[in-house]
Amino acid sequence: MWFKKKKTKQLVVPKHVAIIMDGNGRWASKRGLPRLAGHQAGVEALKRVVRASQFEGVEYLTVYAFSTENWNRPEDEVMGLMDLIVFFLKRDLKELSREGVRIRTIGDISALPSEPLKEILDAVESTQHNLGLQLIIALNYGGRQEIVTATQKIARDCLSGLIAPEAITESLFSDALYTTDLPDPDLIIRTSGEIRISNFMLWQSSYSEYFFTDLLWPDFDHEALLTAISAYASRDRRFGKVKKV
Ligand code: FPP
Repeated sequence: MWFKKKKTKQLVVPKHVAIIMDGNGRWASKRGLPRLAGHQAGVEALKRVVRASQFEGVEYLTVYAFSTENWNRPEDEVMGLMDLIVFFLKRDLKELSREGVRIRTIGDISALPSEPLKEILDAVESTQHNLGLQLIIALNYGGRQEIVTATQKIARDCLSGLIAPEAITESLFSDALYTTDLPDPDLIIRTSGEIRISNFMLWQSSYSEYFFTDLLWPDFDHEALLTAISAYASRDRRFGKVKKV
């Protein structure tokens, strides 16, 4: 892996950063451009932030690219977003893979159209042994849907006698989620000034720190990531315990 990770002395770098990439549409309409132009600029921001995350020593970067609710957008926007996933992987995968990036997904990707599905599956498979930044793309993802799907799986295992209801623990439940072997996000960033969770990583965010910025996603860059990481580093994470003295 040629990408040199920076040794950060002062900042406590979050191991797992998750981002709700919001504001593409507003970025485009401010410029009199179609919404899709905002999503295109969003892909460039994503590439910048992958780079910046590698540089700062973030180990896991999860990005909310397409929610279970996004199917309700106009068909040309949905198809445009699917095309952008294909475009991003065709253009950037080789380079990212050379840098050690491992691509993963969370969400029900089986519902994606065949071309983006194939590109995504190929990317996940071809990068599975990479040891650098893990880029987790949330696609057709919804936190409630994830919890319901996990519950159905556990209920089936109970009915078949594989596990007793008493054996259901937080850890067993976590293992039934898409994020099964991923650490919970330490820092969740949402751009565009909206202050809500929008069905993102509901279970996994129990003890995450949130950072909200007015910047629109296409304007987000390395400096903006550092601002978020600095805010995170200044927080006192107690996980429900009392402060150590
Ligand atoms: C929210 O902005 C953004 C999305 C629903 C899509 C995010 C997608 C990308 C950044 C590009 C594609 C991703 C990959 C992985 C290639 P919005 O459209 O809701 O913005 P608005 O609130 O201003 O309308």
